[in-house]
Amino acid sequence: MNYQLLAAEQIEAHISSLSKEEILSLMEIPKLSEHGDMAFPCFRLAKELRKSPAAIAEDLAGNLHHELFQTIVAAGPYVNFFLNKCVVSHAILTQILEEKDQYGNVNLGAGGKVPIDMSSPNIAKPFSMGHLRSTVIGNSIANILTKCGYTPVKINHLGDWGTQFGKLITAYKAWGDEEKVKANPIAELLKLYVDFHERADTDPDLIPQGREWFKKLENGNEEALHLWKWFREESLSEFNKIYQLLGVSFDSFLGEAFYNDRMEPVVDLLEEKGLLVEDEGAMVVKLDEEGLPPSLIKKSDGATLYVTRDLAAAMYRNTTYDFSKAVYVVGNEQSLHFKQLKLVLKKLGFDWADQMVHVPFGMILKDGKKMSTRKGKVVLLEKVLQESIQLAEKNILAKNPELNNKEEVARQVGVGAVIFHDLRNDRMNNIEFSLEDMLKFEGETGPYLQYTHARACSILRKAENPEWETQDAGLGDPMSWEIVKQLADFPKYIERACLKLEPSIISKYLIDLAQAFNSYYGNVRILEQDSSLKERLNLVCASALVLKEGMKLLGLEAPMEM
Ligand code: ARG
Repeated sequence: MNYQLLAAEQIEAHISSLSKEEILSLMEIPKLSEHGDMAFPCFRLAKELRKSPAAIAEDLAGNLHHELFQTIVAAGPYVNFFLNKCVVSHAILTQILEEKDQYGNVNLGAGGKVPIDMSSPNIAKPFSMGHLRSTVIGNSIANILTKCGYTPVKINHLGDWGTQFGKLITAYKAWGDEEKVKANPIAELLKLYVDFHERADTDPDLIPQGREWFKKLENGNEEALHLWKWFREESLSEFNKIYQLLGVSFDSFLGEAFYNDRMEPVVDLLEEKGLLVEDEGAMVVKLDEEGLPPSLIKKSDGATLYVTRDLAAAMYRNTTYDFSKAVYVVGNEQSLHFKQLKLVLKKLGFDWADQMVHVPFGMILKDGKKMSTRKGKVVLLEKVLQESIQLAEKNILAKNPELNNKEEVARQVGVGAVIFHDLRNDRMNNIEFSLEDMLKFEGETGPYLQYTHARACSILRKAENPEWETQDAGLGDPMSWEIVKQLADFPKYIERACLKLEPSIISKYLIDLAQAFNSYYGNVRILEQDSSLKERLNLVCASALVLKEGMKLLGLEAPMEM
């Protein structure tokens, strides 16, 4: 129920020169409650109606009536609308209780497919904080798109191809140890990689050898392929542990390697269109006119590059999904890459490239600096998650030792803390890495939302089969209205989050809702046996539903008890 729209429709019936959308955009929310819940300013109408704004307001106010409005009065040049809060609240709560998890669905997408390139860690390297960001932001965007009528396709574009595998194979063959890799794959492979760079400082043969092995890999050399496959499998099974903890799944794991034999056609096409030029031995597409550095398609030794694989992948996704949008959730450092990628596709004459959206996000910094794998300075994400889960378990043991499924709830809460920490602020903000902050369960956190939801559920449990009075009076008091207003706004925030591809819009909304709910809880005797008990329980139930659905959009689970 959209009471703003309703007021606009009322006005539209009397003012033919403005559409209801225009009226809606002119509508104000008064700062003072004595000016009503909404105010419509009449200045803009004065000229064409040849009347003073105050006279127009007077006329309008005299002609508008609706059961949802207690009074509609003119105040100078404004028409002030006072809602009949009991009636409006009841209508909103009834709608939420009827629609349940369908509440807030908006059809923006008409079923259109949206491949979301997300997570996409690099094989043989630890899963970094940046990849965590891409995973949780991408997952939330997928949920929001689904809610808005799109069909997202979550793609893990694994970094399983590139010169680094040449280096890794070289290092493994020269000084690697099979048993060690098997026992501790990611750590051991990372060590080989780090050592490779260290030794390369003094051993000039290593770099060319690495390049040679990557060439062999690209050309299908059996030994190279065999090692590569093994590194890939070991890495994937480590990554899967993290995805399982996070509760994130994918529709496709087609990584960079998949495009190995789809790149030659791309290079041919670029050549055909006369876009490929030589530059210091390498083949590039010039982007001077666009004011960007050239896009490097093929190295001097013929090895293809990251962007070449992305070109092939974009074309593949276009033919496979006929997408209405293609989203790339990748760090802001790669903005130039995605600009170049789109421009090269446009030069090829692919207008669908306009539907590609890079969704960038800020970095996770440690002491103000970027974390780098090359030097081995990484935080192991799985450890962070495990630690958070343990902390949650400790909290449960202290506060609610009787809880039935402690382990499961600890996982939901511990992981929720980490996910929400990431989604709480605008995605473009950098985040200073602090384990302590990530594991905070109080203040504006995931566990705070989960706790508020569990609290609402517990009230509803206590109220089972209450002997309430049959007459049910509505709620018109300011405290309940604060909550109802927010509940009514949920669809608007979902739509906004979808248009901006910005999960933090939902996070902030949920924090506000939880705060309103908790202050209600602290000030109102919800279970008091009076004539509004039933409506108060409806309010609690609707709040629980919206909190749960909102958390689901972020990728957080909502335990009933904690
Ligand atoms: N593997 C890359 C990295 O870790 C991210 C890949 C992003 N996706 C893409 N289509 N380029 O930096």
